[in-house]
Amino acid sequence: MHSNKFLLSNTPVDKLGKEEAKKELSLLAGQIYYHDQLYYAEDAPEITDAQYDELRKRHRAIESVYPDLTLPDSPSLRLGTAPSKGFRKIRHVIPMLSLDNAFNQEDVFNFFNSIRNFILELKDENVQIETVAEPKIDGLSCALRYEHGKLVYGVTRGDGNEGEDVTANVLTISDIPKELPTEVPDIFEVRGEVYLSDEDFLDLNVRQERIGGRLFANPRNAAAGSLRQLDSAITASRPLRFFAYAWGEISSPFAATQWEARDKLKQWGFVLNEPAKLTQNTEQLLNYYEYIEEVRSKLGFSIDGIVLKVNRLDWQQRLGFVSRSPRWAIAWKFPPQQAKTVIESIVCQVGRTGKITPVANLRPINVGGVLVTRATLHNRDEIMRKDIRVGDTVIIQRAGDVIPQVVSVIVSLRPASSRPFEFPTVCPDCGSKLIREVGEADSYCTGGLICKAQAIERLKHFVSRDAFDIDGLGEITIAEFFAEGRVHSPVDIFTLRERNGLNPLSKIGGWGATSVKKLFDAIDRARTVSLDRFIYALGIHQVGLATAKLLARHYINIESFLMAMKDAAHPASMAKQELLSISGIGGSVTTDLIGFFTEPHNTSVLDLLLKQVKVTDYVLPSQLSPLAGKTVVFTGTLQSLTRSEAKAQAEALGLNVAGSVSKKTDYVVVGSDAGSKGKEARALNLTILDEKTWLELLHKVDM
Ligand code: IVH
Repeated sequence: MHSNKFLLSNTPVDKLGKEEAKKELSLLAGQIYYHDQLYYAEDAPEITDAQYDELRKRHRAIESVYPDLTLPDSPSLRLGTAPSKGFRKIRHVIPMLSLDNAFNQEDVFNFFNSIRNFILELKDENVQIETVAEPKIDGLSCALRYEHGKLVYGVTRGDGNEGEDVTANVLTISDIPKELPTEVPDIFEVRGEVYLSDEDFLDLNVRQERIGGRLFANPRNAAAGSLRQLDSAITASRPLRFFAYAWGEISSPFAATQWEARDKLKQWGFVLNEPAKLTQNTEQLLNYYEYIEEVRSKLGFSIDGIVLKVNRLDWQQRLGFVSRSPRWAIAWKFPPQQAKTVIESIVCQVGRTGKITPVANLRPINVGGVLVTRATLHNRDEIMRKDIRVGDTVIIQRAGDVIPQVVSVIVSLRPASSRPFEFPTVCPDCGSKLIREVGEADSYCTGGLICKAQAIERLKHFVSRDAFDIDGLGEITIAEFFAEGRVHSPVDIFTLRERNGLNPLSKIGGWGATSVKKLFDAIDRARTVSLDRFIYALGIHQVGLATAKLLARHYINIESFLMAMKDAAHPASMAKQELLSISGIGGSVTTDLIGFFTEPHNTSVLDLLLKQVKVTDYVLPSQLSPLAGKTVVFTGTLQSLTRSEAKAQAEALGLNVAGSVSKKTDYVVVGSDAGSKGKEARALNLTILDEKTWLELLHKVDM
């Protein structure tokens, strides 16, 4: 027995007395809940899939011997999805984003450089960028909405667009004011981190142990598990705390700088991250970073770095956001924490594209408060380079949410019997040959459609949160349905009900009437999907969320998108030129897109899929703007703002910014020294604007 995260008894199930069965069910349920949480909500599993399957198998077996011990919240009724479906969802008026990370001084310099490159006045190095620095707490983010000074709801971050309504639980947190003074704007949404102090975390685990509940691996998990409790009495029994560090929707501005905002928040009764510092230059920042690292263990709560925020809010506003994080803030992480342990085995996993990733199963070890059981070995070269072998004692490290890595092997501790690791030549799942392209580090399974592992990974991607987002189709269920031949391709998900009729949904238990209905309801909800999610769900190589959005934003509807992808297969086509002209889409993505859409199997699955689902047009975030959907090209040097800011401004109003002019260009903005593009624009008779007229146009639209 390695740890309390994976406890399995050897007693045969039919030898268990009822009391024992009850106890074990509760223990297993606790573990399954815990690992579900890690897997689905944190993407950071601590045990292997096989171990997880064993937990569920034993739980199911005991329940089938004692069906009357099945509790309403049993994992067998939860279908292996995030244990959070009971909460009402609330959409964030302003998305809750994340922070980009810096890992060293160079990253921090780059952060400031990109700010200087964005805001023209800051090109002058003599102008200082005042920066607020605060500790970065390791908890979970939460938004609190106040209307006319009254707390109306609390919501978790969720996927950034939509979170869970945790109002009842938030009301139990004493750090959170329930009423605010009258001077606070009528609509005021505070954002911050819900966390547990180190001491309370340890106490909680002692209590959990006493009552036979599940133990939490770290304060962050404990805070997440405690805030996302359906029973707020449980939350109330856990001493959660709250630090305010940002805000969302506000009906009127309440400060000019981040530092002033901090003061106001404190005056109004919030607790803020301390010690914070207003710094004038990088030297002061560096001192602060070193100071915090030094006092880290004495703060009383866990932190994993510091957060830097541009102090001036007007600059924050101008800098805006890039994909999921603001340009005006960055998290500067502390260096990874290391530990020594032993590699017990090495397994090779097959991803959705067939990529083979070797993973080391480790003797479980606590690294900076987190139990680590696995480390990625990346690829064959990495294993060879470090000569990593089964049985080796190794130094591993983890940094934040990143999968732990092997830093080095302690060769002096190597057992005499050890042999170099033999990388497989065939797929561990389907037995097809592995290939490795010249110059590439990764090996790929050539099994394609016959490889079960790839198919399951593709299905998992298809139903994932940012794709079709089908609740109730978790990894376990997909694997079960796949094994039973019920779902092999995405289309099968949508025809499951008609094919299945009223037969039991699976040979494996746990599918009561309610859970079956829930699953089919979730599938039906997914029959309408927006174009960006649809494209992302296809799992095309190199087409992640951001690229899918770029494509959706350009082609708007599924018909034009598919037509364009088909036409682009001709090397000299306009469609291909158009695809290449989309800012952010390069040659290699284009090749992958064309490759995908010329593969007959893909197109036939697509045709079938489109009979089952309705793909809605991509809605531009700023669709109300009259300029939305128009295309602009900038050329020459602009006088009052940088090219990056000009581009961001245009995109915020829903315009597409293209790199070259074509008949489809709506506006060409010409700065000084405009070269050939200006000429081309004149030849095509396009609308040409100078910088001043362009900014006036934007200003009118943005009112
Ligand atoms: S500011 C636009 N300040 O770290 C996002 N975040 O890794 C503004 N966090 O999502 C966030 N301490 O949950 C901010 N002092 C701090 C923070 C902090 C912890 C969390 C927050 C954020 C995550 C990003």
